[in-house]
Amino acid sequence: QLILDTLHSHSTIPDTRSLVIPGQSEPAASQDAQIAVLGALNSLLSRDMVKFETHEIVSHVLTPEGSQIAVQGSHEARVWSALPAKGEGAPVTPVQLKKQVGDETAKVGQGRAFKNGWIGKEGDGLVKLGQWFTVQKGPDFSTSTAKPETDLTVDMLTSGAWKTSTFKKYNFEAEGSSNGRWFFTSPAQSKRRNPQHLLGNGSESFAEMPTASFVESGFWCFDALFVPQQHPARDLQDTFYISDPPHSLHPEPEYYKRVSTVHEHGGFGSTGYRAPWSHEETTKLLLRTHTTASSAHMLYKLAAKCRGEDVEDDRPAAGKEGKKDDGFRPAKLFSIDRVFRNETTDATHLAEFHQVEGVVADRGLTLADLIGFMKVFFSKMGIKQVRFKPAYNPYTEPSLEIFAFHPMLDRWVEVGNSGMFRPEMLEPMGFPKDVRVHGWGIGLERPTMIRYGINNIRTLMGHKTSIEYIEDSPAPML
Ligand code: PHE
Repeated sequence: QLILDTLHSHSTIPDTRSLVIPGQSEPAASQDAQIAVLGALNSLLSRDMVKFETHEIVSHVLTPEGSQIAVQGSHEARVWSALPAKGEGAPVTPVQLKKQVGDETAKVGQGRAFKNGWIGKEGDGLVKLGQWFTVQKGPDFSTSTAKPETDLTVDMLTSGAWKTSTFKKYNFEAEGSSNGRWFFTSPAQSKRRNPQHLLGNGSESFAEMPTASFVESGFWCFDALFVPQQHPARDLQDTFYISDPPHSLHPEPEYYKRVSTVHEHGGFGSTGYRAPWSHEETTKLLLRTHTTASSAHMLYKLAAKCRGEDVEDDRPAAGKEGKKDDGFRPAKLFSIDRVFRNETTDATHLAEFHQVEGVVADRGLTLADLIGFMKVFFSKMGIKQVRFKPAYNPYTEPSLEIFAFHPMLDRWVEVGNSGMFRPEMLEPMGFPKDVRVHGWGIGLERPTMIRYGINNIRTLMGHKTSIEYIEDSPAPML
């Protein structure tokens, strides 16, 4: 309050050492008073009520070692006086000398005549700081010190008090503190650094896809994947939609046109859905229901060179011999990240879970490649009993659901879904007709349950998970 009142009447405080605390005769020049001033200034600064500059006085003082030397003499002098004069008395052994003058003096005194370090910085107790400050009014200056609110409460919302309250600003610079705990996604994240033991060996390396965007547009989550706009997965009952901001950015217009055309009128050998196209539907924002949205972004990017875009990619062409380079380069991609579905939760379902997704693009791939790969992939996780069931996905044909046997539940549990991406998805992106892309998406939690004999998914993920359980469990090794 003193700082604010002084600023109010004098506009600036050139030197905080001249502040006179009411009821005291002397100005607040002491170091303790300036430390109190600093506390107040920092608190006012955090609310933008003041700005201030720090002025430091640096002075040199003796360290404890220096003080000791001032009184008792230097280490070497003490060593010297502890030793008998030449020819007088018995020689002193190093062990005896240490006993007499102490380890430190014996060591230093016997060594160099002087060592640096008799004076130094604070912390070693060497420098004493004096400070004062110059203070100006800040952008939100006021003479009231009423504390800003730190929480928005139900009371404030119902009474309307939130409209007039001032709120403490977030400090985005604050460092988070580690709580020393692991949580379930940690093993997934650690696998990101080295997933190759599951995904293949040696030269067959998979690159990780960027999956940071939990929020996707209807276009990338569904339309680009040839999911019909009337598909039930897009219903509110299945997908969480975002209301603010209301719309996504527009995708690249020519690609958008090819996608809308293949849906509405067909093309690339397909009849399409022959249903009216809604632009509105493509711009809706939602919490992604599968990481295949990220795969779509990556595949579109992979096809850039095939679309004739000028992209840097110095890998050799993967065409048939004698054919000219059509820009296609094979790719193996994976991701591990979170997805969201508006599901009723039970022992095997969660509304938020993780998918491990993979995509392989090459010429001449077949369904047998996909099945073979999945068998090896699961057996490396310790899951030997897998079955495939023909299924339907709007973006893959053929499609296969993947089931694994859960010994504790004593039944087959669906662990993933896979297939060969459809031409209606790949060709609008610009891939040549003979390029095949197969992909799979696997829930991370369900195979982990099978591997570790856990019969309720909520043990691993979600608000009912016991932190003690997570802490006491060995880190899962997929
Ligand atoms: N997106 C599918 C799912 O969420 C998984 C999948 C990925 C299927 C790639 C086929 C190809 O279940």
